[in-house]
Amino acid sequence: MNPPAAAASIAPEVLSVAQPYLIQQDWHAYTPEQHAIWAELVRRRMPQLREHAAQEYLDGFEQIGLREDSIPDLSQVNRRLSPRTRWNATPVSGFLPPDAFFEMLAARQFPTTTYIRGRESMEYTPEPDIFHDVFGHVPMHAHPVFADFLQHYGRVCAGLMGDKDKLEKMGRLFWFTVEFGVIRQKGEVKLYGSGLISSHGEGTHVIEGRPKILDFDLDLVLEQKFLVSEEQKVLYAVESFDQIYEAAQEAEKRLS
Ligand SMILES: [Fe+2]
Repeated sequence: MNPPAAAASIAPEVLSVAQPYLIQQDWHAYTPEQHAIWAELVRRRMPQLREHAAQEYLDGFEQIGLREDSIPDLSQVNRRLSPRTRWNATPVSGFLPPDAFFEMLAARQFPTTTYIRGRESMEYTPEPDIFHDVFGHVPMHAHPVFADFLQHYGRVCAGLMGDKDKLEKMGRLFWFTVEFGVIRQKGEVKLYGSGLISSHGEGTHVIEGRPKILDFDLDLVLEQKFLVSEEQKVLYAVESFDQIYEAAQEAEKRLS
């Protein structure tokens, strides 16, 4: 039996720029070896994350029904996620141009690759894969405030298309929240950014106290340059997810 199409729970008609990048996930085409790679990646990360991830990430992992032993079927994920926050993990063919990416975020659809890395790139893959996209990103989309933040972020960026400098600043906000965000909870720094969640090396780097952790400050974040290819030297810790929601509102006021 074919799995129900992931598109059944989304509204592809609202997308125009991103439309050519939408695909279906052929979940039955994954091989046992590919499921085994997923399982190995998850089992490697979970012991550290149970101790050091934000509680909201761990709750989201359960709420959207991710499993350790098999690659997620996005239609099943969306069946649990969409009623909570109206977000969907929407399968796409690969990297999206910025206008298509922002259009999808603004429509509460997270562009999700369906490919999984091979054994030669267990620690790092330059191209995002389903492990980074779903394990790393999607659990946070079950959190209502994070969910609203991410949609608003997409809307603001969609309105800034063509303004390279402003989009670069917004890219820094994304980097230091969605990708490499940390939060202070019970006196400890906890991980919630997908780059930290999905990479054992990056997560360990933070837990061992190597990056400087500054209090989240929108002015600093918008000016903070970063290198994608290097371990992070500075990160910004929020006290609550309300702070990033407010930061997206404030960034809109300043840049629009
Ligand atoms: Fe990412």
